[in-house]
Amino acid sequence: MSDRRQLALNLFIYPGGHHEAAWRYKGSAADRILDVSFYQELTQRAEAHKFDAIFFADGPALADNVRYAQRFRFEPITWLAAIAAVTRRIGLIATASTTYTEPYNLARLFASLDHLSKGRAGWNIVTTSTPQAAQNFGLPEHPPHHERYERAREYLDVITKLWDSWEDDALVNDPRSGVFADTSKIHAIDHVGKHLRVRGPLNISRSPQGRPVYVQAGSSDDGRAFAARYAEAIFTAHQTLASAQEFYADIKRQAGSFGRSSDQIKILPGISPFIGSTQAEADRLQEEFNDLIQPEYSLTQLRQMIGLDLTGFDLDGPFPRHLIDTSGARGVASRFKLVVDIVDREKPTIRQLVQRLAGARGHWVIAGTPEKIADNIQAWFEGGAADGFNVMPPWLPGGFDVFAEQVVPILRQRGLFRHDYTGNTLRDHYGLNRPASVFAHPAQAIA
Ligand SMILES: Cc1cc2nc3c(=O)[nH]c(=O)nc-3n(C[C@H](O)[C@H](O)[C@H](O)COP(=O)(O)O)c2cc1C
Repeated sequence: MSDRRQLALNLFIYPGGHHEAAWRYKGSAADRILDVSFYQELTQRAEAHKFDAIFFADGPALADNVRYAQRFRFEPITWLAAIAAVTRRIGLIATASTTYTEPYNLARLFASLDHLSKGRAGWNIVTTSTPQAAQNFGLPEHPPHHERYERAREYLDVITKLWDSWEDDALVNDPRSGVFADTSKIHAIDHVGKHLRVRGPLNISRSPQGRPVYVQAGSSDDGRAFAARYAEAIFTAHQTLASAQEFYADIKRQAGSFGRSSDQIKILPGISPFIGSTQAEADRLQEEFNDLIQPEYSLTQLRQMIGLDLTGFDLDGPFPRHLIDTSGARGVASRFKLVVDIVDREKPTIRQLVQRLAGARGHWVIAGTPEKIADNIQAWFEGGAADGFNVMPPWLPGGFDVFAEQVVPILRQRGLFRHDYTGNTLRDHYGLNRPASVFAHPAQAIA
């Protein structure tokens, strides 16, 4: 175990790959998108390269541009259960919404995944950014941003108590004495709140990690405050070192105000690398992907991010900055700001902007040699901008293999990434404490 601070690396699996046109690329495995063995093999490779975890995003609605892209979703916990069965050490992070699920159901799903994976579950806590989800749950419209976070805070308090409702030694399971559980150590939670009413206890004993690792991906003010209060790992999107450093410092500062220690929070920006043996080769590869873009798709993505429909505009004309209504955040709050910053900083044409975003929906896209990618990762890691990265291969599986085989060895040589796992759970990999049950140690409420 190197006591030197080391990177955490996740593989962010996105069907087809993260570049919006990846599924059309000759090297991608578009035909295997429904084949569970594709994801099992990919995860086994990530485990062989000692990655911390794999991660599945999710949204309980069909994206409205599925005509042009591989954008449908498996239910992530179901998918991870199948992957858990053929892996041993790699973490398994699934996204689930606090807006469109009930805590008792979700508590059972993640406790089950943590039990069957022997302690490798993580929960990416989202309030759901896709407004279309509302109609799938009988709501006239998507609850406003602030209200979604209000419900999310109550939800976290409830589901944490459910996962803690069996103390660690409540399960006795002694056929001789005939005692299966020490019921004095199993607790109802009797929660009555503004959004939720839940009696509990949970109907399964406490899982190996106690609770799944709390992951979160908000960047707005509400999102940041939520992350600082609850998250143990934070996914985030940044285009520049400076904006990542500002986010990193702000989150760690806010967490301190909640009495949390900064080493118990891992900040993981996304990185989507196009890798070549020369810079020119890497640039050519990125161009090859951008040439496969379908503007009809890209413009719907842009509309979702900034609420502006540019259908019919000259793609090679200047981006119409004056049409952006900055009065109220429209679309995804933090992505709105990210796109406007690109427009103001780089004055792109519409085509140049959609090509910028096509790579990874606003995450950091970088093209270069393995050394250049490793240098940039090291600069963010040692520059107070990241504790690790969500690796977002432009295409799968090849985009992952080239990163794992050419960049990871360089990071190892520099002592920045593990040679082998030293623990078995996702908490071990991230260096996170295992939380005690709030019922066993009432003083230690959610910490
Ligand atoms: C790496 C990453 C992954 C995300 N995954 C999801 C997801 O799976 N489902 C979702 O609804 N939102 C996802 N989001 C969006 C966030 O949950 C959040 O809505 C968005 O970052 C806006 O932040 P805010 O909630 O603070 O406004 C993701 C964001 C990031 C940075």
